[in-house]
Amino acid sequence: MINKEIKKILDKIVVDLYQGIKSDFIVESPRQKDFGDYASNVAMVLAKELQKSPMEIAAKIIEKAKAENHQKKLFSKISVIAPGFINFEISDNRLTVNLNWILKKKCKFGSSEIGKGKTVIIDYSAPNIAKPMHVGHLRSTIIGQSLYNIYKFLGYKTISDSHIGDWGTQFGKLIYAYKHWGNKKGIDRNPIEEMTKLYVKFHEEAKKNPELEEYARIETKKLQEKNDENIKLWKFLVKESLKDYNKIYKILNIKFDYVLGESFYNKMLLGIVNEAMERKIAIKSEGAIVINLDKYNLSPFLIQKTDGAYIYTTTDIATAKYRKEKLKADKILYVVANEQTLHFQKLFASLELLGICENIEKEHIKFGMVFGESGKKFSTRKGETVRLTDLIHRSIEFAQMVIEEKNPKLSRNEKKKIAKKIGIGAVKYNDLSQNRLTDIVFDWDKILSFEGNSAPYLLYTYARINSLVEKYNKTYKLNRINILDKLDLGLLKDNLEKDIMKKLLKFPEIVENSANENSPHFIALYIYELSSLYNGYYNSVQIIKSEKKITRARIALSKSVAITVKNGLNLLGIDVLERM
Ligand code: ARG
Repeated sequence: MINKEIKKILDKIVVDLYQGIKSDFIVESPRQKDFGDYASNVAMVLAKELQKSPMEIAAKIIEKAKAENHQKKLFSKISVIAPGFINFEISDNRLTVNLNWILKKKCKFGSSEIGKGKTVIIDYSAPNIAKPMHVGHLRSTIIGQSLYNIYKFLGYKTISDSHIGDWGTQFGKLIYAYKHWGNKKGIDRNPIEEMTKLYVKFHEEAKKNPELEEYARIETKKLQEKNDENIKLWKFLVKESLKDYNKIYKILNIKFDYVLGESFYNKMLLGIVNEAMERKIAIKSEGAIVINLDKYNLSPFLIQKTDGAYIYTTTDIATAKYRKEKLKADKILYVVANEQTLHFQKLFASLELLGICENIEKEHIKFGMVFGESGKKFSTRKGETVRLTDLIHRSIEFAQMVIEEKNPKLSRNEKKKIAKKIGIGAVKYNDLSQNRLTDIVFDWDKILSFEGNSAPYLLYTYARINSLVEKYNKTYKLNRINILDKLDLGLLKDNLEKDIMKKLLKFPEIVENSANENSPHFIALYIYELSSLYNGYYNSVQIIKSEKKITRARIALSKSVAITVKNGLNLLGIDVLERM
């Protein structure tokens, strides 16, 4: 990775020149082109520490850097700019080495081993049983899956775990309702819809007859006490709900390593609360048990209610413990909406007091809300929340219309296949191309447009290069293997070509950054910029032209772009289309 290579070179020079001085400097790519491809503030940082002029220090450093560059030929220019920045311009040599590297590494380009030996658990999706998955869960699913892909690409051992809400008082109500008004067939046919109906019916009836609440409590209690009938019913409701969720996961191509719901931790909860009490970390407060978080300026963390019930909070403590002890986590990412910020602040503070997961990085990966086109709450015309399956199918339908218009000659089957991938890709990309903290809007025209920062645009860029390469292979009767022989990348002299090559060099850095910030949108933005650069190039030069050697080099460049765009899209969980 080029920024790290430069850092390493500078680190060594600093040691050579100023032994014993420790300095914290950075290497970054400046926004302005005149400042070189990469720049460092090393001389300025040292100047402060040594009380010397930064220009003087910079001059010394570049002298050494130039000597070093003599052999390595990484840079075409190293210069100093007042008040003491050192700028590096990447050499053509380094750029062509990278192109060869991309063509060789293919789907591995951008990957690394920095995560080797480390385990990261990504907690995402996690819908609540018997309730429909809502758009918040969809965001969690899409962002979580992308982070999973990114960490895996960087060599981490990645474990996905959907912490489903499969326990709690809602089951008492549901079981009561099912026993009185439900039937197996109805649930079988339409699990969540039927359960929602039962739930609603329960509340309607309970309004007329408040005694029902007490009956529901009894059912909950029976369930907690492992009453056979209720356990069987509960298992059935969980299984049926998962059946419904799995339909969505199947369309979106989402898989989990574990689905350990809240109930999985039941047997740990008593021990956790007892220990917290014994160690005086938790206290009784008005009949309930809480962890006092005054020290953190947070309100108390309720871990056992007055009626003795354990809750979401207690379970989350147990979950963290399990993940550390049994799953050997080094890092846990909770991909959950903004609304739970306080819960996670309190959870992390409580874990610290309890000494659970002390040396583990824990982060709440928050995200904003989802709005409909008009900027209003995302709901149907009747005001109900939009069902996720409807949302995804709507996207596919719209995509089909777009394809129909754009490429009417394709076969029906092909159109269907393409529409499906575009529709799903568009929903995912709409989410991942924006900073996750911002609220997102479903603006269908924008999401499905073939221009601008959208999935169709990127998919199209990839497919276009693919057909270009095919055409080239046909013209020259070549197979894929031939591309690397007799390849003279030195022929890529055009400025646009250089810009693309410089952009390509950055991909590994971008992937690592998006993991550091847990923000897939860096990758999205990057592939969009790369695609724009490439499309500008494509429109301004003739790639397949008579000069055979130049054509070959340009095809190699195009292929490298395609590889990188594909790798980026795959990290976002989006499948490419070879043809469109
Ligand atoms: N089921 C929860 C919800 O829908 C999300 C669970 C997130 N994970 C966790 N470990 N708390 O709100």
